[in-house]
Amino acid sequence: MTSAHSTAHSSPASSASSASPDLSPLNASVRRFHGWEPLRIEGELPRSLRGTLVRAGPGLMERFGRRLLHSFEADGALIGLRIGGDGGADGAVRVVESAGYRAEEAAGKPLYGSAAPWWRRFTNGLRQRIKETGNTSVLSWQGRAFALMEGGRPMEIDPSTLRSIGASDLGGVVGQAFSAHPHRLDARGVTYNFGQTYGPKPTIELYALPDEGQPRRLGEVAVPFNTMIHDFAVTDRYLVFVLSSLKLKLGRALLAPKDMVSLMDWYPEGAAVMLVPIDDLSAPVRIPIAPRFVFHLVNAFERGDEVAVDVIQYPDLSVMTALSRNDPDTASPPQLQRLVVAPKARRLRSDELLWDKGCEFPVMPARSVGRDYADVWMVTGEEDQATGVVRYNVKSQDAQVWTPGEGIVPAEGVFVAEPGAERDEQGWIISLVCDGWAEASYWAVLDSERIADGPVAKIWMDQPLPQTFHGAWIPGA
Ligand SMILES: [Fe+2]
Repeated sequence: MTSAHSTAHSSPASSASSASPDLSPLNASVRRFHGWEPLRIEGELPRSLRGTLVRAGPGLMERFGRRLLHSFEADGALIGLRIGGDGGADGAVRVVESAGYRAEEAAGKPLYGSAAPWWRRFTNGLRQRIKETGNTSVLSWQGRAFALMEGGRPMEIDPSTLRSIGASDLGGVVGQAFSAHPHRLDARGVTYNFGQTYGPKPTIELYALPDEGQPRRLGEVAVPFNTMIHDFAVTDRYLVFVLSSLKLKLGRALLAPKDMVSLMDWYPEGAAVMLVPIDDLSAPVRIPIAPRFVFHLVNAFERGDEVAVDVIQYPDLSVMTALSRNDPDTASPPQLQRLVVAPKARRLRSDELLWDKGCEFPVMPARSVGRDYADVWMVTGEEDQATGVVRYNVKSQDAQVWTPGEGIVPAEGVFVAEPGAERDEQGWIISLVCDGWAEASYWAVLDSERIADGPVAKIWMDQPLPQTFHGAWIPGA
């Protein structure tokens, strides 16, 4: 791209545009952590927007002079945007200060992950000692906020400061793990989540966090083999899991290898949809499907005696190799697929592609969860890079795309509903965008129904920030 491109968009007043885009900060450590600071706004913020958006991602890619092998093991960064409704906005960036992080700070050396010595990694595995990095997502529940990672307990944070409070078991409810993908079902007023346990009898532990009242452990469901389950979906009657064609080699995990791909086998016959009745965990239904790998489910809903399950799927495990080796252009592209299953007949009815473009990181309005929906907002991509934000209508197959341009990379948008809106899909998509030309990141505020128009406002952070995975909007805060 020529330098003309760099003048085609505005950059923060404090930094000049580069001659070529630098996207290396997406895979580097946060340069500066700080509390709330006023941000420069380009455009105009909608007056109805009032709240705090918090995103989570890997924050520290080097520790004590050593580069981590992959971002999954990095201490989390919480990147916050606070919009006060007065036309202004503040930003903050905080590291997740887990007990493991504090122990490493005190020791002055790495104690967890690939940077730790081999014997330490081995004993960590034996004692199931993990660092709860909170580097994947954020949950807002009953006025409290939590930074999440799938292999550990939630890390409670103060949503007004983004400072870490400590790992929580939600009053003795959560066991070892609490996934980074809780889902709230409006019809029941409950946020559901799960945590995986591994071993000779692998299970999924299930949790219910009601809008009011105490959290509960619903029980556990057996999983037929040790696999990696990142996400799930919820309908009026079912918790919906998709088992990928990935089998973990647990014996090898004890050897504490640095390369996580060496722990994974392609296991084509393992792929299945598993429906767990919310009101009867003893009767899960497992329906085999064609081989695939799935990180994220888009949604699921009931239609007569059938359940539709929409997923973002990969044809193989190349994405895990690519993530592990930090070589994204070797991954097969993810695509949006609909599986329709009939639980009573225990049959797969159909398995069809919904969109032929590469897409990931699906989000939607809270009220669409578990319902026959039309619109999903995703990040689109080409080859190895996210290139745009799309509103895709799964019924009409209409795609509205915002493409910010080469060298500018958007992350997953968070859907913020317009207060009092007539239509569920009416609101804002707020994406954290790394602008490689401006050497800074900005929050793009997009009208959810007019995505192709581009941002109504850009809110500039004063530094380029690393990639983030997921986040949450805390209204009114
Ligand atoms: Fe995820």
